[in-house]
Amino acid sequence: MTTTTCERDWYQSDAGLRTRIETHRLYSRVKEPWADWLLSLNEWRGDERVLDVGCGSGALLLPVAQRVPHGLAVGLDYSQAMVERCQAEARAQGIRLGLTRGTALALPFPAATFDVVMANHMLYHVPDIPAALAEAHRVLKPDGLFIAATNGANTMPQIDQVHQAAYARLGLPAPDDYAGHRISTRFNLDSGRAPIEAVFGQVSVVRHADAFDFPTAEPFLRYYATLATLTPDDSALAERLLAAVRDEVEAVIAERGMFTVDKPSGAFVARK
Ligand SMILES: C[S@@+](CC[C@H](N)C(=O)[O-])C[C@H]1O[C@@H](n2cnc3c(N)ncnc32)[C@H](O)[C@@H]1O
Repeated sequence: MTTTTCERDWYQSDAGLRTRIETHRLYSRVKEPWADWLLSLNEWRGDERVLDVGCGSGALLLPVAQRVPHGLAVGLDYSQAMVERCQAEARAQGIRLGLTRGTALALPFPAATFDVVMANHMLYHVPDIPAALAEAHRVLKPDGLFIAATNGANTMPQIDQVHQAAYARLGLPAPDDYAGHRISTRFNLDSGRAPIEAVFGQVSVVRHADAFDFPTAEPFLRYYATLATLTPDDSALAERLLAAVRDEVEAVIAERGMFTVDKPSGAFVARK
């Protein structure tokens, strides 16, 4: 299987993704659960066969499975830890689904198998995005629906700002390759349109404006610390960096009462 640095660093354990999902649940300004918003982009009949590529811990796959009681929900993920976590969640909630470890670049399913294929917040990790889109298209039935959620082009600029400012406080240059969350420039609501159009012909973009509002620094620091490539390998430096980021965030909270991080996101929706 072809891999990327991000898959190795970010998804060997499900802990980082769990922290990020929990942070979105607790500190998002928009209170409607993300899964409800995203899944409202389709009118579910209840008998669809659905594939969730890069399903992670099942944040979308489990709610999808509940919407297709007479169909089939299948998740695929590159990471063994994610597949196990998703399986455990499904068992705990008594939800039936199919799960397999595999790559978006070679989906282990015959052509025209699924009514809906989703690939949410994952295409920016895939080394060959057009190949993954071609695979999603291949396994969709004619007229099948493709949904790909991703970040807006300029997501979480405040993370960049405090990160840069923290390095400046330490008197160090911020390294060029630090910003793990910048991975989404590879596939965001702007840059993702052309490769999807090339495969599906037409695509629409549905935007979801949202922000984190952090009343204290702690939950932000927990989120920040999961962005593996944001923090340096050297643990002493990482500790100093986190302390400097805390100072930056606390200064904003002292001035404005809240540390806000804008996080525009949304989804592409296309038909085969
Ligand atoms: C940010 S998580 C998103 C999880 C889920 N789709 C969600 O929205 O909650 C990205 C997931 O994509 C998976 N992934 C990354 N590259 C992949 C690939 N080439 N094939 C399959 N899964 C991949 C990772 O292991 C991780 O679970």
